[in-house]
Amino acid sequence: MKTYKDFAFLYDRLMEDVDYKMWFEYIKSIFKKYNKKPDKILEMACGTGNLTKYLCEEIRDVTCFDLSDEMLTVAYDKLQYYNNVDILKQNMIDFNLNKKEFESIICCCDSINYITDESELYKVFENTYKHLTKNGLFIFDINSYYKLKYIIGENTFIEDTDEVFYTWENEFIEEESLCYFYLTFFMKENEKYIRFDETHIEKAYTENQLKNMLKKVGFSKVDTYDAFNFYNVSEKSERIFFIASKNS
Ligand SMILES: C[S@@+](CC[C@H](N)C(=O)[O-])C[C@H]1O[C@@H](n2cnc3c(N)ncnc32)[C@H](O)[C@@H]1O
Repeated sequence: MKTYKDFAFLYDRLMEDVDYKMWFEYIKSIFKKYNKKPDKILEMACGTGNLTKYLCEEIRDVTCFDLSDEMLTVAYDKLQYYNNVDILKQNMIDFNLNKKEFESIICCCDSINYITDESELYKVFENTYKHLTKNGLFIFDINSYYKLKYIIGENTFIEDTDEVFYTWENEFIEEESLCYFYLTFFMKENEKYIRFDETHIEKAYTENQLKNMLKKVGFSKVDTYDAFNFYNVSEKSERIFFIASKNS
């Protein structure tokens, strides 16, 4: 199954509407709310480095990693002029950064939903906990169960631009809480269209399920908010932010 291969080189074009600057401002407002001024940050599943770029502008020491070589290739191009960032290939499930610890670890844009096995997600959380300093913050967001089941699942989206035409067909498998994304791209090249396909799978986790898991691995406090504000999560929240504090 192909995930973030050829798609990596179109990712930024298809994410043009996503305001990463606003995303970064929201993360900064979380630091402010929690009285943190992190100097050393890790971004997991950094993708093509869209958020990383803003981190590099304001944080002294940035480390980022992703699992996809292709996403990292694009990230490298974007971040090569910053000298305060380490760009690595690692898997969130078993990453090991040689005992380096971070005051904050972030993971954005539903990358956590890509961990579809609960026991592997425990490993991600345990590993994150281990790489945080005392009083460190783990910040991530997910596509909510509601969004994956009712907004994305069972729907098909089509996008037609000058350079690429793509279809995004989805299927939600209730018994497994899994949402399958079947992506088909037709990319214009020399007056011809080149086709490629990818399948992505996101797991729909509930807010309480993740809160319990985070507490089990040792996080002393876990707060959740409706995305990009500090309101409580509602039944129809589509993106949920988690802020997990390590106090010991
Ligand atoms: C929706 S993209 C988000 C990328 C980036 N955070 C952003 O905001 O644009 C999901 C990313 O998660 C990465 N990913 C998925 N599973 C991973 C894992 N086990 N370890 C590290 N990265 C992973 C993918 O390669 C992809 O770059």
